Amino acid sequence: MSDPNPAWTPVGEAAGLPAVHTFKQGRHQLCVVKTDDGVFAIDNRCPHEGYPLATGDVRGCELTCAWHNWKFDLKSGGCRLGGEGVRTYPVRERDGVLEVDLQDPDPETVIPPLLESLEEGLLKHDNPRVLRDAVRLLLAGRPAPDVLADLARFDARRAEYGTTHVLPVAADCGRVLERYPGPDALYTLAPPIDLCGENHSRRPVRPLAEPLPDGTLEVVRHAVESEDVARAEGLLRGLLERPGSWREAETWLLDATSRHFLGFGHQLIYTIKVRELLERASDSDAVARDVLPALLYSILVGTREDTLPYLTAYFDHLEQVAPRFPELWRAADTSTTYDPGVVRDAVLDGRCGEALDALEGALSEGVAPRQIASAIISAAAQRLYRFDLAHETDPDVAENWLWATHRFTFASAVRVAIERWDSPDALRFLWQAVAFVHSGQPMDAPGAREQPLPAPVPAGHVDADAILAAITTKSPERAVALVRGWLADGRPLTPLKHALEDAALADPAVRPIVVAHVIKTLWAAFDEFDALEGHPDRDWPLLAAVRFVASPVKERRVHDAAHTSIAWVAENRMPRKLTQ
Ligand code: FES
Repeated sequence: MSDPNPAWTPVGEAAGLPAVHTFKQGRHQLCVVKTDDGVFAIDNRCPHEGYPLATGDVRGCELTCAWHNWKFDLKSGGCRLGGEGVRTYPVRERDGVLEVDLQDPDPETVIPPLLESLEEGLLKHDNPRVLRDAVRLLLAGRPAPDVLADLARFDARRAEYGTTHVLPVAADCGRVLERYPGPDALYTLAPPIDLCGENHSRRPVRPLAEPLPDGTLEVVRHAVESEDVARAEGLLRGLLERPGSWREAETWLLDATSRHFLGFGHQLIYTIKVRELLERASDSDAVARDVLPALLYSILVGTREDTLPYLTAYFDHLEQVAPRFPELWRAADTSTTYDPGVVRDAVLDGRCGEALDALEGALSEGVAPRQIASAIISAAAQRLYRFDLAHETDPDVAENWLWATHRFTFASAVRVAIERWDSPDALRFLWQAVAFVHSGQPMDAPGAREQPLPAPVPAGHVDADAILAAITTKSPERAVALVRGWLADGRPLTPLKHALEDAALADPAVRPIVVAHVIKTLWAAFDEFDALEGHPDRDWPLLAAVRFVASPVKERRVHDAAHTSIAWVAENRMPRKLTQ
């Protein structure tokens, strides 16, 4: 009778084999070890740096790698000292011949321990180990979007104050997976892996509230408003027990983020991004059950910036207009003739009252919120473009590049929220965006308003390599001039988009959080370029994003923090905040 498993492969006469034997077959290279407890076969390549385990030392059922002392249990492949485990292979003896089973194991069996190992690596911020485990997961058949979701879930379970930047970066990186097939998907997993490890090194799991039944939008809104964490989180967890309910949960989160301008707008950005992650995941419900409560938790504990003195005027105005929101929402008409420059200019260069009057005036005239959002995006892009590079290096100024990028990525999230959420309360986001972008005025470089843009580089001298070179050499003016040349020439944008995406994934900065902002800003810039089709300010998002990625960003801030600490603690002098 033929063997039902043709993957059983003869290694050699059992009696004639040495105690440690190397065996090669196709892509397999095994280390076969005879012990008093039996014969075992493991991968010959050490999972650490790939040196041959056959050169290691065997004691009992433990093999110690000769190179860096990792110790492996020969029976299970588990690593007793070092990092991840090694793959084992079934061994049998038939008619005096040793055979090994080279069949790839069932993914259902392999994936759970690999995920455990990956999480262990994340807890140690051991990037090389996590990256190796991620490749193993991909090769074992776990879809890359699910691995991205795994990272967001890990982040959600561990994050002390709820979801972090891991979520939006995982969502953004998922967008380019099509261009990174097979194991190359690892390049898209690497930025969120790095960020995840940095954020949650050795952090315990955050305790969760018990699920509660019968949640409604109104009940949850009340719990969020009163900062009743256990009740709000419990109600959301109760809702998510029902399959497919994450779409309803999204409405709860949009409502919660509309009530207050939270933590520099991060929570709305995350609420917008999470949908992409869930839609790509094989088991959206399972991902939602981990990620959405953490997102709500970040809303519950986030700073309510709208209650702080620097933003009070904007939000007092919102409350005055809010009773008219249902009427304004109904009256909105995309065919209303509208000069987008009115809101844009008031937000960019007007006084607070002028910006708010322009917003209220446009809505009162029946201008569609989506069109107003576009005008605010244009202002946000120009605000980002105007950022004064001197702030980045001034230890007495708190504002830096990341403060500037937030305003633009938040405005982009507001545009999506307005399109996605059919509710008069979505108008609240317009006030949040005006407040955030307008209050950033003091970050503008002196004279930036009058400063002409760098002249476009003539078509024959523009290509993606030249733009990447300008970014690498930190030449913002040249990068902007080249992109202007590209756009003026009317060339298709896709090659430039791909080149910039690839560059954003290829370690454009040292700190994972800065890489996260490069990714978020570039992705939002291309989104808004698309969304602004036909708009006179269409190029601004790209020009602003390219100026940011081509500018020097100060990543080490320990010395600055020491400077601030001395001024504060020893001299009672607080760091200067230009915008607050
Ligand atoms: S290669 Fe085996 S421990 Fe480093």
